[in-house]
Amino acid sequence: MCGIVGITSNNDVTARILGSLKKLEYRGYDSAGIATLSDGNINEVKCEGRVESLEKNISRTNLQGTIGIGHVRWATHGKPSTLNAHPHSSEVVSVVHNGIIENSTILKKLLEKKGYRFKSQTDTEVIAHLVTDYLKKDNLKNTIVKVLKKLHGSFALGIIFKDQPDLIVGARRGSPLAVGYGPDENYLGSDSYALKAMTNKISYLNDGEFCIIKKDLVEFFDSNAKKINKKILNLSKNDQSIDKGDYKYFMSKEVDEQPITIKNCVNEYIDKFNKQINIYNFPWKIRDISSVVLIGCGTAYHACLIAKYWFEEHTSLDVTVDVASEFRYRKIKFKKDSLYIFVSQSGETADTYAALDICKKNKMKTCSIVNVVESSIARDSQLVLPIHCGPEIGVASTKAFLGQMLVLYLLCLKISFDKKIISKKKYSEKIKYLLSLSNLTKKTLKVDSKIQKLCKVFANAKGCMFLGRGYSFPIALEGALKLKELAYIHAEGYPAGEMKHGPLALIEEGMPVVVLAPRDDHYKKIVSNMQEVISRGAKVLLITNKSKNEIQSENIWETIEVENISEDLLPFLITIPLQKLAYYSALEKGYDIDKPRNLAKSVTVE
Ligand code: F6R
Repeated sequence: MCGIVGITSNNDVTARILGSLKKLEYRGYDSAGIATLSDGNINEVKCEGRVESLEKNISRTNLQGTIGIGHVRWATHGKPSTLNAHPHSSEVVSVVHNGIIENSTILKKLLEKKGYRFKSQTDTEVIAHLVTDYLKKDNLKNTIVKVLKKLHGSFALGIIFKDQPDLIVGARRGSPLAVGYGPDENYLGSDSYALKAMTNKISYLNDGEFCIIKKDLVEFFDSNAKKINKKILNLSKNDQSIDKGDYKYFMSKEVDEQPITIKNCVNEYIDKFNKQINIYNFPWKIRDISSVVLIGCGTAYHACLIAKYWFEEHTSLDVTVDVASEFRYRKIKFKKDSLYIFVSQSGETADTYAALDICKKNKMKTCSIVNVVESSIARDSQLVLPIHCGPEIGVASTKAFLGQMLVLYLLCLKISFDKKIISKKKYSEKIKYLLSLSNLTKKTLKVDSKIQKLCKVFANAKGCMFLGRGYSFPIALEGALKLKELAYIHAEGYPAGEMKHGPLALIEEGMPVVVLAPRDDHYKKIVSNMQEVISRGAKVLLITNKSKNEIQSENIWETIEVENISEDLLPFLITIPLQKLAYYSALEKGYDIDKPRNLAKSVTVE
């Protein structure tokens, strides 16, 4: 989704803004642009498409300046085009913006009446003209306060001013924004990741705050322009290298990294010597928790759905799972003894953050399970449980999904143990299984060659279905989501028992159907469901675990067997062939796997 960079320095900033925009590419975008100040002029270069094209355009124009702002845009108001790309400039200011200005239509009409002319279809352009208008009557700081009060919606802003050759304004409401500190220069970024190549000293703006950044000074203000102090955080420099190595796409690298992800996470949470799960700084008494509410979006929501089965099996807690975009607008009856758990790879998903904010305002117990520990969701939660995956760049979430499931599973077992529900023997057994999970994931990754052969059928299919029961049902949803978002194939995930209640009508000769049937409690039932689709012409790809027992069904098109582990951990292993299936189907169709159309990595607008 949209990304912001700003630099004020003694040296030319163009190349470094481009470098930071490249870092933000992973968020998903459709156009890009830069504005700098030089010789008292605002210079803009923008284009539809990739930062690479922007770089080519810039090399033709010789754009220069010691202060500048850059942006990658994911279209909301107005189609992706050069004209709609940010920055948007008036005669005197240039603006980059993440988020949505909800009252832009009204503001635009008012500004048009005053004679301002609009070039784009964006909501952002109103900000440029509004700032210009207020600056005619007021000083810079008052202008910012007044403009921010006029704007409805959620946003992060970066603004430069024609007559201020060393000053960037940043402002935050709803969308994240970070300030970075360098030697004789300072930075603005929509996340710390954009600034990592330049600094590891970061401060974050909170909602309603704005900042004034000069090359030798950074000042922060609340919404009434009262000066405030901010902590400077030192971010770790030792993130895993963020390049593709020998891989063609980040996604395939990230899928293959999953054994390491699991190992890192297990090492962080399991004390191998004492054979126990450690969750440090748990801020509540375990007896004060009698239910959990799990909240997330997309893949993170699927991780929550699986966790519901775990919590129900291993604890006595009531469990509710909710999609964040629904939760935030429902009339929730908050309960003091509930633990509200927010699952988010990026930690910046607007809906998940809003759901957390509501819980915070209602003084609930909040815990977040995130990959980005510096994120807004992590910073605003009482307990943060990192998934320790390292950066996930491919838009489709893969290793983070396994990491989310793993931390949810560990939390569930820990609560079960502390509440004395799981026996010591069973708890030790589970820990033993967890210690073997990384290795089994590694072995399961070998399904690669078999899947590659099958993906032609999927790539040419009009649509397909993923069926599961129990733990495998949320994995069926996840498999379908991966195929949709990467290979643009209509795919439905369904609880296999629901087929007769409608979806069976979709089955026709040759339709690929993925049946997830590990040898668990649901095995016999799902084999019957599988036969029902086979007899209606479906081409069934069965995914199960290795067993001495033969599969009691005929006419299965293909079977993939994953390694064996305890039933409740099989979701980790059966996910892998589904990730590979989506990957190879998209590859077969020649799509840009790391940047699927219309999607963004960090969904910072609702
Ligand atoms: C799908 C995918 C998305 C994200 C969702 C939530 O592959 O990546 O569905 O899971 O946008 O994102 P986070 O986890 O960052 O809150």
